[in-house]
Amino acid sequence: MARKLKACLVSVTLVLLTVYWLSGNEIGIQTNSSPVYYVHGSSTPSTSARNMSFNNHFHILTMLSVFNGKRWPKYNEFTDQDLVDRDKEYLATLRANLENKVVKEVHLFYMEDDDLKLVKSQNFSALNKLRPVKWHRRLHMADFFLYASKNLVNKSVIAINGDILIGKGFDLIDTERLRDERVMFSLTRHNIIRDGKRCTPLNLCTESYYRASHDTHVFRLAEPLNETIILDKLDYPINMWGAENAMHWTFKNVLNFTVRNPCRVLVTHHNHCSKVHGPSLEKVDEHKYSIYYLPNKGWTQKKVLQSYTPFENSLAYRKRKKSGFLAFFYSFLLRWT
Ligand SMILES: *[C@@H]1O[C@H](CO)[C@@H](O)[C@H](O)[C@H]1NC(C)=O
Ligand SMILES: *[C@@H]1O[C@H](CO)[C@@H](O)[C@H](O)[C@H]1NC(C)=O
Ligand SMILES: *[C@@H]1O[C@H](CO)[C@@H](O)[C@H](O)[C@H]1NC(C)=O
Ligand SMILES: *[C@@H]1O[C@H](CO)[C@@H](O)[C@H](O)[C@H]1NC(C)=O
Ligand SMILES: *[C@@H]1O[C@H](CO)[C@@H](O)[C@H](O)[C@H]1NC(C)=O
Repeated sequence: MARKLKACLVSVTLVLLTVYWLSGNEIGIQTNSSPVYYVHGSSTPSTSARNMSFNNHFHILTMLSVFNGKRWPKYNEFTDQDLVDRDKEYLATLRANLENKVVKEVHLFYMEDDDLKLVKSQNFSALNKLRPVKWHRRLHMADFFLYASKNLVNKSVIAINGDILIGKGFDLIDTERLRDERVMFSLTRHNIIRDGKRCTPLNLCTESYYRASHDTHVFRLAEPLNETIILDKLDYPINMWGAENAMHWTFKNVLNFTVRNPCRVLVTHHNHCSKVHGPSLEKVDEHKYSIYYLPNKGWTQKKVLQSYTPFENSLAYRKRKKSGFLAFFYSFLLRWT
């Protein structure tokens, strides 16, 4: 009897779920739909509509990371030529991003005056877009959001790692909708191919399964974010292991944002063919360069799993709220199956 009741309830729930799905709502499960684009001012997805292009002008926030003839601690395994090659990649990335037509300004955080001089001596044609920001440390995750809260409210921002090239798709973002629906696009990168070689084959949007690398964060703040929360949760270097996991978790669970990863539409490329790289994941127990080792912060594997932000094929914005009735059946299904 109990088994019949259970079977009955499960099938009723399945039917309701199907109806719910067909009605276009999301319940936290990603379906593999074909690309869908939103038309400005309408929430109705339309595959036939031509892609809406917005005349977007983004403010990039990024760190100037060049060796510039100096060797940082823990980089002893690399040759001088390796470091020079890495600097070339950083500078080429900066140049391409400055010249990109969707980019209005590059707020370039730097520590050493000599490093900024190196940039200025490159004769980049779009150097007028450069906004140097002298900073007291290598960027922390919190710095992106505190700086944007102070200087770039209501502006379209791309916070980005120094070796990421902005590719296609950024014209398609409705940044007003991004702002009004509290959405952040946090993107997984694509590869580049140089000299026939595929560089850095890991953590890519093109992989068949998800690995948590997010190097580009797109947002437009309606108002400054809560400084206390940002400092409490995100005050660690941006290249620490787990940096993006803790950031996603905080935006989703504390700041009420929707975090999405439409990396198949918004394309970014990782310009990293040179050999130089930071502390490896294999040696994380040795170097302890991971959010798990931050004292008294309570970053756990559970939270890292909750930060999951899978690849998406289309530009969607905020997830719609579950209706109470359907949410009840959904939770029921989870418990009974
Ligand atoms: C819309 O943009 C996407 C991604 O940039 C592209 O693949 C697609 O062909 C475009 N569709 C139309 C109708 O222009
Ligand atoms: C930039 O231009 C100056 C003056 O034309 C030239 O001396 C210098 O070598 C150029 N720098 C680079 C990196 O091309
Ligand atoms: C936000 O920026 C838009 C222009 O991009 C402007 O029209 C609007 O008034 C601004 N909103 C506020 C609250 O400043
Ligand atoms: C910021 O968040 C903290 C902790 O949740 C809260 O105590 C404080 O009132 C908030 N500040 C503002 C200005 O909302
Ligand atoms: C987030 O939403 C929760 C529940 O709706 C609310 O209590 C909290 O104040 C919100 N926090 C922020 C930063 O908006």
